[in-house]
Amino acid sequence: MRFLLEDTSRRAIRYLDFLDGRNVAPTPESVSGLDRLPVDLAQEPIDPKDVIAELDNIVSPATMAMAGPRFFGLVIGGSLPAALAANWLAGAWDQNSSIYDLTPGTARLEELALRWLISIFRLPQNCGGAFVTGDTLANFSALAAARHAVLARAGWNVESEGLIGAPEIRVVVGAEAHVSIFKSLGMLGLGRNRVIKVPVDNQGRMRADSLPALSSNTIVCTQAGNVNTGAFDPTGEICLRAHEAGAWVHVDGAFGLWAAAAPSRAYLIEGVERADSWATDAHKWLNVPYDSGLAFVRDGEALRAAMAVSAEYLPISKAHRDPSDYTPELSRRARGVEVWAALRSLGRSGLADLIERTCRYARRFAEGLREAGCEVLNEVVLNQVLVSFGDADTTKRIITELQDEGTCWCGGTVWQGHTAMRISVSSWATKDADVEKSLAAMLRIAAKNCKR
Ligand SMILES: Cc1ncc(COP(=O)(O)O)c(C=O)c1O
Repeated sequence: MRFLLEDTSRRAIRYLDFLDGRNVAPTPESVSGLDRLPVDLAQEPIDPKDVIAELDNIVSPATMAMAGPRFFGLVIGGSLPAALAANWLAGAWDQNSSIYDLTPGTARLEELALRWLISIFRLPQNCGGAFVTGDTLANFSALAAARHAVLARAGWNVESEGLIGAPEIRVVVGAEAHVSIFKSLGMLGLGRNRVIKVPVDNQGRMRADSLPALSSNTIVCTQAGNVNTGAFDPTGEICLRAHEAGAWVHVDGAFGLWAAAAPSRAYLIEGVERADSWATDAHKWLNVPYDSGLAFVRDGEALRAAMAVSAEYLPISKAHRDPSDYTPELSRRARGVEVWAALRSLGRSGLADLIERTCRYARRFAEGLREAGCEVLNEVVLNQVLVSFGDADTTKRIITELQDEGTCWCGGTVWQGHTAMRISVSSWATKDADVEKSLAAMLRIAAKNCKR
């Protein structure tokens, strides 16, 4: 074991050391190298050190350098040193962090991390929280609590009785709601398409003046941070309207909620704390290793009612918070460990710096691209930049060439009918020099293509 772990840590360190110098996307040869992985399961055991060598030699080169400083695709953070190291240690602990009395250490870390997060996001002090795999499951969990509460108010116990014959629930979403909201609604039996879509403005913000009539059987899903533009729905205003009618407001804040940590960005989330539930990710902007998401519910008992189970063999705690009372999973890894370690190592000022710095880099990208004559399609309020290099074909070609060239990696999207390249700056590892180097690559490739 000792030799294996030391050898593995050497390999992992070497991998991280090379991240800065390698192509961000794996080369076609590295991807073809995956064919060397055996297809059939061997009959006999293999020495673990050979297994790790095979993984490192074949798979490491075929990874995308998401942990590096110049990956700007989707919304993906790297792993902060303390978070990655905590992840290794927690792997050695191998705790099934479901029940306090079984794993008091990791359950306590979750409690503490939740407390810190509630304070960072300025949420109600007593709200319930859950550590889940990501924002999709956070949306699912929070909406399960919403479903419970809305139906309980109508005298229906959805966990016991299911949805067949239940009073109707109406769901209102913005026209730019993230797909994970629809997926969650589908998994909850509320239907991906049985929603009322509210029109949005040119940044993707829900227009509060176009909300339909709301009532106590309504769940309104707003967004803090549009995946394309970074824009925020007017959640505070929507909450006032919704709460007057007795409706539930859920906020999908996969990355946008973290604006709360940065003094210059905190205005974006004003009023968000009025909502009833919130979903966010830790694997995006907090830069903990995959996978890690968080759900918060003002009425923690609604979340508990939706998730908790008991059985004779489970040593359910009477005196403490059992993590699995709040999550879809029973057995689960101790995700709170990395979140705790990330927050402990950053402190409030380090977290503020991470969010401020990445937002500043997004503005620098926008400024450099605009100066070169490219069209920036969004108001760069957060860490997201949408850029068009002309017609759809030219923009797509530039994205492909940039990905192949390897300095950095950005993906594409279509924003309200316009094909665009997305730049999402979410990694702690990105420095000024990475931004300048990536911007230069973008402009070089754009200039070549726009000349044709
Ligand atoms: C607004 C929003 N919601 C939900 C998600 C889904 O998050 P995850 O992939 O962690 O489930 C994303 C991902 O980018 C997002 O931006």
